[in-house]
Amino acid sequence: MKKDYFGEGIAERYDEGAAAVSTPEAVGPVVEFLARLAGDSRALEFGIGTGRIAVPLHERGVPVDGIDLSDAMLAQLAAKTSSIHAVQGDFATTRIDQFYGLVFLVFNTINNLTTQDEQLACFRNAASHLEPGGYFVIEVGVPKLRLLPPGQNLHTFHLSEDRWGIDEYHFATQDFTSHHFAVRDGELVRMSVPFRYVFPEELDLMAKVAGMRLVGRWAGWQEEPFTDDSTSHVSVWQRDVSR
Ligand SMILES: C[S@@+](CC[C@H](N)C(=O)[O-])C[C@H]1O[C@@H](n2cnc3c(N)ncnc32)[C@H](O)[C@@H]1O
Repeated sequence: MKKDYFGEGIAERYDEGAAAVSTPEAVGPVVEFLARLAGDSRALEFGIGTGRIAVPLHERGVPVDGIDLSDAMLAQLAAKTSSIHAVQGDFATTRIDQFYGLVFLVFNTINNLTTQDEQLACFRNAASHLEPGGYFVIEVGVPKLRLLPPGQNLHTFHLSEDRWGIDEYHFATQDFTSHHFAVRDGELVRMSVPFRYVFPEELDLMAKVAGMRLVGRWAGWQEEPFTDDSTSHVSVWQRDVSR
């Protein structure tokens, strides 16, 4: 049984924590990008969460379904709308009996799959839900290894009065753990979440193995060029029409 890192306490506070990436300015370009690819088809979101993207995409006229491991996140989504069909399950393996023009996985969530086998299974699962010619979209950070000099495996990603965040990298195994420390009601609380980092080239290979090919890679949702210095990417693979 896979561990759920988005239980009740996290799910209740998720939208508040994600406020900066939930504004119309942040979400608008994501929705337009995804709506363009979906065309007249249905879309499926892997790791739909509380619907930060799925709800506005649905309101924009794209029918959206979802898969998520967390009952608590799905309960938050259900409290917002009853018109999105979302099922509880692992997006590496869970199958919905439907085909889609678009499957998408945003906000670094591919990293939640902590082995290469699971990430590859996710690509295969996406391809198996796509109509021929359909698109699979991933938004994920470029691994921050260039920030780490030899001998160093810790990167501080947040430091404020009452919150600290440190990523701990392991290069031999390609995994990293995000450690979150916070002072809440006068108590120090810690949450550590395991991830697997993955470079764009490895994702392209997984896509090929799953019968998809890269059709675009950008640094952001407004199709900013992807360069040597880009810190994240939005990548689009297309399912082979012949399969
Ligand atoms: C960072 S949140 C992103 C939620 C939403 N997509 C968004 O952009 O706000 C990651 C979500 O993926 C879900 N998740 C993580 N690993 C999963 C897995 N293996 N299968 C299904 N859902 C998963 C979590 O429960 C959580 O809701």
